[in-house]
Amino acid sequence: MGEIKRVGVLGCGLMGSGVAQVAAAAGYETSVRDVSPEILDRARTGIDRSLAKFVEKGKLQPPDRDAALKRLTFTTNTADLKGCDIVVEAVTEDVETKNTLWRELDGLCPPATIFASNTSSLTIAAMAAATKRPDRFVGLHFFNPVPLMQLVEVVRTVTTSDDTFARAFAFAKSLGKEPVAAKDTSGFIVNLLLVPYLLDAIRAVEHRVASVPDIDKAMQLGCGYPMGPLTLLDFVGLDTTYRIAEIMFTEYRDAKYAPPPLLKRMVLAGMHGKKSGKGFYDYAVTPPAVSSLGL
Ligand code: 3HC
Repeated sequence: MGEIKRVGVLGCGLMGSGVAQVAAAAGYETSVRDVSPEILDRARTGIDRSLAKFVEKGKLQPPDRDAALKRLTFTTNTADLKGCDIVVEAVTEDVETKNTLWRELDGLCPPATIFASNTSSLTIAAMAAATKRPDRFVGLHFFNPVPLMQLVEVVRTVTTSDDTFARAFAFAKSLGKEPVAAKDTSGFIVNLLLVPYLLDAIRAVEHRVASVPDIDKAMQLGCGYPMGPLTLLDFVGLDTTYRIAEIMFTEYRDAKYAPPPLLKRMVLAGMHGKKSGKGFYDYAVTPPAVSSLGL
């Protein structure tokens, strides 16, 4: 199979734009596709800002930043990804939305192109089966914020060929990441362990075990975690976590993945965390204040 030179990224929210950034910075010609020019503009601004941070810290030279930006193209046309050697998908966690895009790309891309989903909890096999290339389908699960987090879970499903898995693993390494091999079970390694922990932190709030900042402080200082669980929930997004928990609960039918009522109510109220300005904390003020949750 040929060398990977061109990378396609489907969806440029928080995760997709991070993947596009690291691919372009690693030297790949990278095409990013999303549904509207506004979303693409927001992603471009975010990438600019993130690369500027690396330059500011002396971790990236300005000419390398400029070269990375030149390697990035943004489009609303899925067909513009047809020349890519690997396509990483990071659209909304809905298998039908993902499969509609995979089917379209399957008809456009040459047989050698690898398809990789950044899903955090959906079954890779359900996407692979929607294409005529189930052997060239993997999961590549990145972590937020993608430019800073070292890990990538490389997920092999029942149909993934050895060659595809090896190439996807090598690709993750070429991005400067530390890949680990994971099987196609919902949540892979990290979310299998992380999601019950985050949901338990919400249950602790519901049961008034301690205040929101004290739960965060306890886990930060007691376990050496960079962020407490409620800050991390705001960072990942409460809507995203709710969706992941629902998918994992449906898969395992185990109460530890059941989204707590408080999470559902916060999502319904539009409290999606940092991105919406409010979650367990209120980001309208600096430093963020604790939100009133009516408990
Ligand atoms: N690009 C470039 N620089 C960035 C950045 C980005 N995207 N995001 C943050 N930074 C910079 C900050 O600007 C800051 O720079 P400064 O020192 O000049 O101010 C520096 O990185 C450090 O950031 P902060 O001071 O804000 O905070 P921390 O020192 O705590 O580091 C962190 C930030 C790396 C995010 C750290 O808090 C961390 O590791 N948190 C845990 C993140 C985590 O668990 N992620 C996984 C979530 S689960 C997931 O993604 C899976 C999915 O399926 C749900």
